[in-house]
Amino acid sequence: MPDQDSIQHRISTLTAWLHHLNHQYYQQDTSEVTDQEFDQLLAELQALEKEHPDLALPNSPTQRVGGTITKQFATAPHRYPMLSLGNTYSEADLRDFDERVRKGLEGAEFAYVCEMKFDGVAMSLTYEQGQLTQGVTRGDGTRGDIVTSNVRTIKNLPLHLRAAGPAQPPEFEVRGEIFLPLPVFDDLNKEREQNGEALLANPRNAASGTLKLQDSAVVAARRLRFFAYSFLSPERNVFPTHSAALEALKAWGLPVSDTWRRCTTLAEVLDFIHHWEKKRFELPVATDGIVIKVDDFQQQEALGFTAKSPRWAIAYKYPAEAARTRLNSIQYQVGRTGAVTPVAMLTPVPLAGTVVKRASVHNANQIAALDLRLGDMVFVEKGGEIIPKITGVDLTARPADSQPIRYPTECPACGTPLLRPEGEAHFRCPNDEACPPQLKAKLEHYVSRKALNIDGLGAETVGRFAELGLVRTPADIYDLTVEKLTGLERLGEKSIQNLINGIEASKQVPFDRVLFGLGIRYVGETVAEKLAAHYRTMDAMVAASAAELAAVPEVGGVIAESLAAWATHESNRQLIERLRAAGVQLALTGEAPQAVSDRLAGLTFVLSGVFEQHSRDELQHLITQNGGKITGSISKKLSYLVAGDKMGPAKREKATELKVPIISEVDLLAMIPSSTEFNVADEALEAGNASRPEAAPEAFPATASGRPGQQASLF
Ligand code: IVH
Repeated sequence: MPDQDSIQHRISTLTAWLHHLNHQYYQQDTSEVTDQEFDQLLAELQALEKEHPDLALPNSPTQRVGGTITKQFATAPHRYPMLSLGNTYSEADLRDFDERVRKGLEGAEFAYVCEMKFDGVAMSLTYEQGQLTQGVTRGDGTRGDIVTSNVRTIKNLPLHLRAAGPAQPPEFEVRGEIFLPLPVFDDLNKEREQNGEALLANPRNAASGTLKLQDSAVVAARRLRFFAYSFLSPERNVFPTHSAALEALKAWGLPVSDTWRRCTTLAEVLDFIHHWEKKRFELPVATDGIVIKVDDFQQQEALGFTAKSPRWAIAYKYPAEAARTRLNSIQYQVGRTGAVTPVAMLTPVPLAGTVVKRASVHNANQIAALDLRLGDMVFVEKGGEIIPKITGVDLTARPADSQPIRYPTECPACGTPLLRPEGEAHFRCPNDEACPPQLKAKLEHYVSRKALNIDGLGAETVGRFAELGLVRTPADIYDLTVEKLTGLERLGEKSIQNLINGIEASKQVPFDRVLFGLGIRYVGETVAEKLAAHYRTMDAMVAASAAELAAVPEVGGVIAESLAAWATHESNRQLIERLRAAGVQLALTGEAPQAVSDRLAGLTFVLSGVFEQHSRDELQHLITQNGGKITGSISKKLSYLVAGDKMGPAKREKATELKVPIISEVDLLAMIPSSTEFNVADEALEAGNASRPEAAPEAFPATASGRPGQQASLF
């Protein structure tokens, strides 16, 4: 048995080594170990820290995988207010700005630093003795949310600074932008599209939404990144200039985009602006302009601030990129969940770094609102500079023979009359059991990497099998044999064997991924994980009512309705039986969390509002662990409404009217054995951690640590 000292020593060595490897990987684009070696080191450190939590170092690299749950973010004041920048859109405005600076500095010589204006979320980081101690959002500029545990999961953000470059003040603040890299954003949206979920409008919203998630393990899987752009310190004169500060931040291991330049004349500033106008689209981060800052800190101080923004800096915003081209036709695509999406087919036109041939028009309402006609000259913009969309019609150029667009009333693929569910913008093909593109997309989803991940059976192959009529549903995959596949074009003996082996191996894929693979509308990866953890078996899940499903953490009413409807379909029941017969995992293996008591047996609860001592997830666990049941709505039969802070008045009124007792979190905790409280919290955390590794998005194959593959190291 090794003694405490040698364990402590091993923990410090591993911690330092992993910090060093992270720096190499994210800041220098190299690595002296393989991803697998990195994962082994991390796993060793995780194991040691678990066994000896008291010996773990603050800011250990293991914190990057997340796992902390924050019920409600506390706020902190900003030591220096977080202001915004004055915006300009024209060179004339920039000349005025330059004039004002020149005048303010009474003719003294000065220089500017030009930087990209990153389109993300502003973040204030505090470092004390080289350690990251706090991350706070901008909030209202004077106070922001403390999101430290989420910030710690950002892989290119050092938790611990290097002792290189100029001396570090004991405490200082770094400001910068947190953003979702564009390829990650694209992946996320592709995934949402496949799951029939609403698309994220732009990477900025996606980043800001991610930062506010309560579960930092989910944040870790989202792959946010950071760029530093300001240094602030109570000690004056640490650096003479902003450019010196940027160099120091970089030397200390903070990610500083190499795009910045020092410019000594306005002409150089304009050159910088022109240089990046098109080139910025090659960067893996969304940018919407250039920030121009006076370089010298004393001169900054002399220029001072207006009420809202500094007089020593300005943002030049690029105009939204638009192009004009012809709308030739509309194609109607049928997605996995039957949603019909119109896609505009355009005469190819260059726009914001790519050639645009297709654009989204969202839905029928949009076509009507724009009064689009075939043959029109249309304006195309990149929404959040990513997905091109039609924003208008050049009516002056409308050809006399332009054709109105007739939105189909029948599915373009199978001829079934389309439906438009109330409140939805999309028409849908309801023929989910036979519509060919829906079946094909469902199969592609089933075999995809994050679902069953069947080796040798990719989207293309399964799509071909579907077209050939070899498979219709996921269950048919398990009826494939060497004989059935022999003789197919482009499928040799070896590929067939591979495929059959892959299908066999997929029978070991855990239940949550099978559930995700079934492609039930709104049941994405996280929801599937939560459902599997809650019900543990497919049978228990399909037996649950919509109200019971809605009460599972992360499963709201819409998801519950969709799932309950899915479960009632005879064809889905048959699918389940055939998958079961094939040996596919329809239950979680391993130990189920033990019931702790039956104190709440026979009782039903609705939780509402924000709770003080536990998150809602934790309270739900507590209730079920003690034999109680959670339901989604208030009825006469309900035993208790547990009221937290900010519970809506409607719920209270309804409960009072139906004479349902309203109790507090404290009352609830008093009803159960006190020892459960701690078990539950620990378990919830462990479940979060254990289920994460495979949750990383697709383009960067993630290893257990969440490190993307080498080829994709963007920052
Ligand atoms: S300096 C006084 N530099 O732009 C404000 N801001 O309106 C000093 N931003 O929300 C900010 N890139 O998050 C600065 N290179 C950059 C920036 C940048 C993006 C954002 C910032 C803030 C907004 C300012």
